[in-house]
Amino acid sequence: MRIHDNILGTIGNTPVVKINRLGPASVNLFVKIESFNPMASVKDRLALGIIEDAEKSGTLKPGQTVIEATSGNTGIGLAMVCAQKGYPLVVTMAESFSVERRKLMRFLGARVVLTPAPLKGSGMVKKAQELAAQHDWFLTRQFENESNADMHSRTTAPEILEAFDGISLDYWVTGYGTGGTLKGVARVLKDKSPSTRIIVCEPEIAPLLTDGIEQKRNDDGSPAESHPSFSPHPMQGWTPDFIPKLTGDAMADENADQILTVANPNAMEASRNLAQQEGIFVGISGGATFAAGLEVAESAAEGSNILCMLPDTGERYLSTPLFEGVETEMSEAEQQLSASTPSCQF
Ligand SMILES: Cc1ncc(COP(=O)(O)O)c(C=O)c1O
Repeated sequence: MRIHDNILGTIGNTPVVKINRLGPASVNLFVKIESFNPMASVKDRLALGIIEDAEKSGTLKPGQTVIEATSGNTGIGLAMVCAQKGYPLVVTMAESFSVERRKLMRFLGARVVLTPAPLKGSGMVKKAQELAAQHDWFLTRQFENESNADMHSRTTAPEILEAFDGISLDYWVTGYGTGGTLKGVARVLKDKSPSTRIIVCEPEIAPLLTDGIEQKRNDDGSPAESHPSFSPHPMQGWTPDFIPKLTGDAMADENADQILTVANPNAMEASRNLAQQEGIFVGISGGATFAAGLEVAESAAEGSNILCMLPDTGERYLSTPLFEGVETEMSEAEQQLSASTPSCQF
């Protein structure tokens, strides 16, 4: 154990944990739990990577305002990094994302500009571009910024290789938000662990990669319009309404071996099962990735080792369908328990 100079030193080095009760006994399932990052999501990595690269290159000037379009976790990670380093932060975010996220960013000192839900992910991206141009702010461009993928090549990938040193990693399973994790980790695995099959997953109702329809892009790689295969889905942080450039790069480099789709109820169920049977508390997209891992497990050879990325904590989803049916009041069974002893009853 060592003393860190500041909170940013605690980003990364998240644990890989074996799954003990879920999935077929013939294979070994593992999860990399990104909620162990200081702001409880994988996006802390890209926030630090993008800001430090921009400081080094001089694109980000001391005291300059930082702006980003984000469904939440990137904004929360950036808010932490900017608070520690002293940059003002503005975040644009579609109003459809959970309210916990807005409050967290504001608590960390960021300003949050909401965009209308019908304009989806591309609406919040456009708003950030307009505000950056108008005020000469530093736009982090998480969906296209190579520093995002580079950070994963420098940190996430070596952590995985170290955890599986001497153990064959047969499958690595991930979703994509920007594709930073996918692009950055997949290219290292292809080089250093070529027998690892890379599985990319996306929502069944938003099968952007599965459908194979090309994304129309602007000159800077940003999306020119919403992708025709997109439908709104509950896996916040997964698959925006366009194929991000970093995701497109990983696919073009043929670094993904298989694409799987995950149905909404399977994602919710997997998240609940991880919590209630393994004590592993993750968000909807973590459940979705694990559901894809379970599908891989069904047909994997005996003794296969499968690693699933779990991007964030379940605590960010208290106001979403993930917690539907989780009551605040006592159930009938709980009331009976309460009535079964004489003290502290209503
Ligand atoms: C909540 C959440 N955060 C982050 C990610 C991954 O992010 P990215 O593709 O931007 O590296 C995902 C996607 O898997 C996600 O669901």
